[in-house]
Amino acid sequence: MYYKFFWDGDYMASFFVVGGNKINGEISIGGAKNAVLPILAACALVDGESIIKNVPNISDVLVAIDILRSLGFKVLHEKNTVVVSGKITNNTISKEYSSKMRSSITFLGAILGRTGEATCYFPGGCKLGERPIELHKKGFSKMGIEVIENDDKLICIGKPEAANIMLNFPSVGATQNILLASVYAKGITIITNAAKEPEIIDMANFLNICGAKIEGAGTETIIIKGVNKLEGGEYTVMPDRIIAGTYLAAAAITNGKIVLNNICVKDMQPITLQFKKMGVDIVTSKNMLIVNAGKSLTSVNVKTGTHPNFPTDMQAQIMAVLTQAKGTSQIEENIFEARDKHVTELVKMGANITSVLKGRHFFVTGPTKLKSTLVCAEDLRGGAALVIAALVAEGEMIVKGTEYIERGYEDIVRDLQLIGANIYKKED
Ligand code: UD1
Repeated sequence: MYYKFFWDGDYMASFFVVGGNKINGEISIGGAKNAVLPILAACALVDGESIIKNVPNISDVLVAIDILRSLGFKVLHEKNTVVVSGKITNNTISKEYSSKMRSSITFLGAILGRTGEATCYFPGGCKLGERPIELHKKGFSKMGIEVIENDDKLICIGKPEAANIMLNFPSVGATQNILLASVYAKGITIITNAAKEPEIIDMANFLNICGAKIEGAGTETIIIKGVNKLEGGEYTVMPDRIIAGTYLAAAAITNGKIVLNNICVKDMQPITLQFKKMGVDIVTSKNMLIVNAGKSLTSVNVKTGTHPNFPTDMQAQIMAVLTQAKGTSQIEENIFEARDKHVTELVKMGANITSVLKGRHFFVTGPTKLKSTLVCAEDLRGGAALVIAALVAEGEMIVKGTEYIERGYEDIVRDLQLIGANIYKKED
């Protein structure tokens, strides 16, 4: 698989989905995109060999590997394992790679920690609103780094120094970037109001295995004691809670059943709680969710927020499911101001969704019959939501913009076929 230039608006392939099949089956969940990307960035800080296992084969991972190679590292990638070794010889992330995904910016902290100078271009990624980076820049400035903006370039100069950094908002990316920059900073760095997402813990665990001294990841205060060297290490990436949530949504919307293996029950709780409120039976066992959505669904109110609130990355998928729930549900998007590209497409399919506050607050009234039509994914999770909705639409749906979906799902067609969906992919 090779990633394509989907950002120029060209659609390369379509998913065809014939609705009506109930989801029924068992699936094992792979490694998390939002954990593996910062972990691959963290590999740039490591002196020895980093062996990363359970790496999903998604297009964003291929971009991260290209970035590591462009920085001078040797990267072996076979199946779900990535091995990174070698030395950093370049400290600029090219415009091409910077524009391909937002996580490219997370490499800045690692490059700075290693070389004291790093350059990237303004990052790309899903268009969910403004997506500013001032928290990253402020954090770096607090560490004594000079941050220069030159047209579309961000140039950071200076060896990071230990500092007390208070984030105005617990940004996931800014927390990761500052954490990476601080690993080699002499003294103690304290990040307060840090993001608490499980993926932050995963990156910190990897760094600690390599010899870093990070405490408090997963809480709002992270304390980093600078070290001189990171040895190599072997690490298995945590399971992807959003992919698990997406397949849970597939079972819920079709009144089906699914067993999700290799998940972290605790990390899934903000998601499972909402589906339970909708009437979905969920039994948990060690690393496993047993889901039975045989009953009719009822409306719920969903407010997205930072962890442990309901994740914004599941907002679109739960909205698709709520089109089939009895009553009026309210959805509040509290993280991104324009995470609503899927709304127009769901309405095109016959969903009854009204926007109370553009991009932020929606009413979804159900159940409504969805009909097949041609829809276009314009971002990763919004695209997944359209596929979920298509599972109950009458006739054959065409979902374009599959390249967005493949940024985060290794093979959504293979997975959904495995659990009973009638879906296939065709190159345009
Ligand atoms: C990460 C996830 C993404 C998820 C998001 C929120 C990865 C690769 N991506 O994105 O899937 O949806 O967390 O859980 O892990 N903000 C600022 N200034 C900044 C940085 C962020 O205002 O300097 C704002 C953003 O515009 C947004 C909010 O903070 O409104 C959350 O952003 P952030 O937590 O940084 O998300 P990402 O790290 O981009």
